Amino acid sequence: MEKYIELKTEQDTIDLAAFIAPLLKPGDVVCLYGELGSGKTFFTKQVGKMLFIEDEISSPTFVLLNEYKTGKFPLYHVDLYRLKEEGELLDLGLLDMIETGITMIEWPELAENLLPYRTFSLYFHFDGIKRWVNIIPDKEHEQFFV
Ligand SMILES: Nc1ncnc2c1ncn2[C@@H]1O[C@H](COP(=O)(O)OP(=O)(O)OP(=O)(O)O)[C@@H](O)[C@H]1O
Ligand SMILES: [Mg+2]
Repeated sequence: MEKYIELKTEQDTIDLAAFIAPLLKPGDVVCLYGELGSGKTFFTKQVGKMLFIEDEISSPTFVLLNEYKTGKFPLYHVDLYRLKEEGELLDLGLLDMIETGITMIEWPELAENLLPYRTFSLYFHFDGIKRWVNIIPDKEHEQFFV
């Protein structure tokens, strides 16, 4: 199933994060697809706030992975835009951490073969005027998007 939601304002994205964050628990992997500037990091920041993470969430574009341990659950914020090969992802140790927290991955395409089969996917879009997201929840979360 796929759910289309228009994100007219930042508040719409904040509301979406407020809806999704309480559904997430350790072991969940959220893949965030979408062009540059489509709102993947903005969304992750809002989810972080809903998880009561105190630190300011910053884009992990250069470090690939940021860990936040002060919230309700550990949050692993990943950005694979600069990943060159799958091996680098294995070096990050992310796959060993997945079960212990919530993992949110921007630019997940390169990692798809390494990720658990069960991922919650959001496709962010911005055409210069309009913003929207297509949500493809994993089986476990489908009930919340009917
Ligand atoms: N409805 C909206 N939802 C999300 N972000 C919005 C919205 N309206 C405006 N914005 C702005 O759009 C920008 C989105 O940038 P963001 O860093 O989240 O993109 P990104 O998808 O993470 O890009 P990148 O691929 O470079 O990491 C932010 O500056 C945010 O303030
Ligand atoms: Mg980003």
